[in-house]
Amino acid sequence: MQTVTTIAGVRACVRAWRQAGERIAFVPTMGNLHAGHISLMELARQGHDRFIASIFVNPMQFGPNEDFAHYPRTPARDAQMLQDAGCDVMFMPDVAEMYGEGATAPTRIDVPELTTTLCGEFRPGHFEGVATVVAKLFNIVLPDTAVFGEKDFQQLAVIRRMVADLCFPVTVVGAPTVREADGLAMSSRNQYLTAEERRIAPGIHRALLAATAAIRSGAADVAAIERSGAASLAAHGMQVDYFAVRRRVDLTHPGAGDRELVVLAAARIGKARLIDNLQVDRP
Ligand code: PAJ
Repeated sequence: MQTVTTIAGVRACVRAWRQAGERIAFVPTMGNLHAGHISLMELARQGHDRFIASIFVNPMQFGPNEDFAHYPRTPARDAQMLQDAGCDVMFMPDVAEMYGEGATAPTRIDVPELTTTLCGEFRPGHFEGVATVVAKLFNIVLPDTAVFGEKDFQQLAVIRRMVADLCFPVTVVGAPTVREADGLAMSSRNQYLTAEERRIAPGIHRALLAATAAIRSGAADVAAIERSGAASLAAHGMQVDYFAVRRRVDLTHPGAGDRELVVLAAARIGKARLIDNLQVDRP
């Protein structure tokens, strides 16, 4: 595996692969890799000759009071994990390489509607930062396929929409959420939890399971399901940002005839803000 820190360096690798007729997959990350990330890498290998992973903690997607400075950075361990996963190139640019020295007002990509609800309501500007950096990374890597986790369901929806609207020639693949044995979705931010907080954190997954079971058994009162999910998180001592039942296709509120749903939750436990979701079909 090669470690590349410049845009020009990635372009040179990709150009050579393209000339050889090879198919290229791409997995963007912020590093501090865990088994959830590695599952994306395994999907990325399928049907492709080459795969690139990026590791870049993107300042544009963090709010002023968020954890950009403290976000866990473990480049040596990440490099080993990527090498073991069969990665061809690890792209690890610094902020100046991605945004230029002193660029104060870079171009931004705004995906409307999808980004103002759910996490967008609590993290203004977050999805603009995600869409912008992913667009830049796509233009640098020029992959055939890019893989994203369903763990960040709204992020995946934003990327799919951006790719469609801006005609990126990239196939976006969603990968299932990888969980700890007790159901907690794997996340770099789980490290912020104290032992006691870690013990209550799987309550998010259990509340999502209860909500999807209710929907599957025909419960029709969405507002009641949302209230009871939020109450169960609060009873664990979490600060609930939202517990919401939405249409999978566009994350709007479901009507009586909508069958393909997703239940999404975001809650703060101590210093960590955790998100999770489960997809469910109405009977
Ligand atoms: P990061 O949080 O590092 O996640 C990188 C990718 O791994 C995302 O597509 C995310 O959905 C996926 N992922 C994280 N935890 C997962 C889990 N438990 N199971 C399956 N997939 C999981 O998401 C980002 O970085 C950034 O916003 C990024 C897209 C890189 C743009 O900066």
